[in-house]
Amino acid sequence: MAGAPLGTLLLLGLLGSGLGRNEELSLYHHLLDNYDRQSRPVRGPEDTVTITLKVTLTNLISLNEKEETLTTSVWIGIDWQDYRLNFSKDSFGGVQTLRVPSELVWLPEIVLENNIDGQFGVAYEANVLIYEGGFVSWLPPAIYRSTCAVEVTYFPFDWQNCSLIFRSQTYNAEEVEFVFAVDDNGETIDKIDIDTEAYTENGEWAIDFCPGVIRRQEHSDVIYTLIIRRKPLFYVINIIVPCVLISGLVLLAYFLPAQAGGQKCTVSINVLLAQTVFLFLIAQKIPETSLSVPLLGRYLIFVMVVATLIVMNCVIVLNVSLRTPTTHTTSPRLRHVTPTPRPCWSCCPASWAPARPPEAPRSASPPRRTSSVGLLLRAEELILKKPRSELVFEGQRHRHGAWTAALCQSLGAAAPEIRCCVDAVNFVAESTRDQEAAAEEVSDWVRMGKALDNICFWAALVLFSVGSTVIFLGGYFNQVPDLPYPPCIGP
Ligand SMILES: *[C@@H]1O[C@H](CO)[C@@H](O)[C@H](O)[C@H]1NC(C)=O
Ligand SMILES: *[C@@H]1O[C@H](CO)[C@@H](O)[C@H](O)[C@H]1NC(C)=O
Repeated sequence: MAGAPLGTLLLLGLLGSGLGRNEELSLYHHLLDNYDRQSRPVRGPEDTVTITLKVTLTNLISLNEKEETLTTSVWIGIDWQDYRLNFSKDSFGGVQTLRVPSELVWLPEIVLENNIDGQFGVAYEANVLIYEGGFVSWLPPAIYRSTCAVEVTYFPFDWQNCSLIFRSQTYNAEEVEFVFAVDDNGETIDKIDIDTEAYTENGEWAIDFCPGVIRRQEHSDVIYTLIIRRKPLFYVINIIVPCVLISGLVLLAYFLPAQAGGQKCTVSINVLLAQTVFLFLIAQKIPETSLSVPLLGRYLIFVMVVATLIVMNCVIVLNVSLRTPTTHTTSPRLRHVTPTPRPCWSCCPASWAPARPPEAPRSASPPRRTSSVGLLLRAEELILKKPRSELVFEGQRHRHGAWTAALCQSLGAAAPEIRCCVDAVNFVAESTRDQEAAAEEVSDWVRMGKALDNICFWAALVLFSVGSTVIFLGGYFNQVPDLPYPPCIGP
């Protein structure tokens, strides 16, 4: 009968030691039953709580240039010691860590000072971990939208300097101080921590430097600076290359013949309109600031000025090209500058070379003259109804110079009919010569326009290429300065 009380004792002992007691629950009650989360975890009012901070960037979500907002996804690792949460694992059955909701313990109330959307705190109130010895660790995730003054001068070859400023909103520098966390090798992590495994790279921005600095004023601030550099390929492919190609088209206007008339202007004005579309695209992207003009905007203004100049130039050249002798007179000086396909003055029509003696032989007539002689012959045939053979003789007058003319004159003196006929022929020849001179002058104006076009084409080509190169070189040389910080993302 002695077995029954022994068994009961054993059972009670089992229940008492293991089954009936939840170590975590009793630790929870032990730590938090008389805990006041409002008071600082210090024994005296002069003591300072030391907060160890480590910010881990998991994703640089975006930089909105228009709203000057940087959106980041971070984990904020905060560690401190709370003497009231001190326990020894031996007293609680080997429990090493206690996880409690964050609203049950004292928190340092760290906020992002330069946020822009009123979301000062974290995105998710994760549990707080309490370790043996009163060490408290909290690692909440946060998505922050912070202000970032965007410098657009070199857009899209720019780099930006954005910062994340953390501070304890409630406690001043005497009450709460910050220190950077220390990694496994004993090195201080005085920059934004980026775990290359967990980090999602941004397609538009590369992070060059991300140093952190602790500033002790009235409040203790932790300022992380993000030096981010834009990867310009997107803009090169989508804006710069099409823009340069379309702007280059404007030079083709110079190759259109003067006969195309308004088409010359149409080409350049179309290009001007296309450039306006690009300007509109860029204006949508960048902040509405008058502090500086982005590089791309400057380039577009430049090519628009070039296109406008070319439109004006085309109008002026058209004005020159399409002149006629009835509206304008060519001054001999202008004719000198016109490149002429004729080898010498002797081939020019009589009206253009007043110094030339009229009896000079016209042996080297330009080829076009042959057709006019044919026309002249036919006109003579119609007027005079003469046999062809005699007309050939008349036509010879032009070719054989003075003695033929003298012969004609003597013939005219001989008979009034012949004289009348010779007068008629002279009249027809004269008016044909006038027509030819006029046509020659018209084509001379065209040639002069062409020469202007040639000069202006080269001028515009040089202006366009030099201007483009200078503007884009400015972007090329706008590199992130070599700052004395370690690279943000380790190799
Ligand atoms: C925690 O408790 C142990 C033992 O009771 C003590 O030695 C230690 O100093 C305490 N730690 C703190 C931070 O109060
Ligand atoms: C970035 O901005 C911070 C604060 O605005 C400034 O202290 C720092 O010198 C800047 N860094 C660079 C490289 O301009």
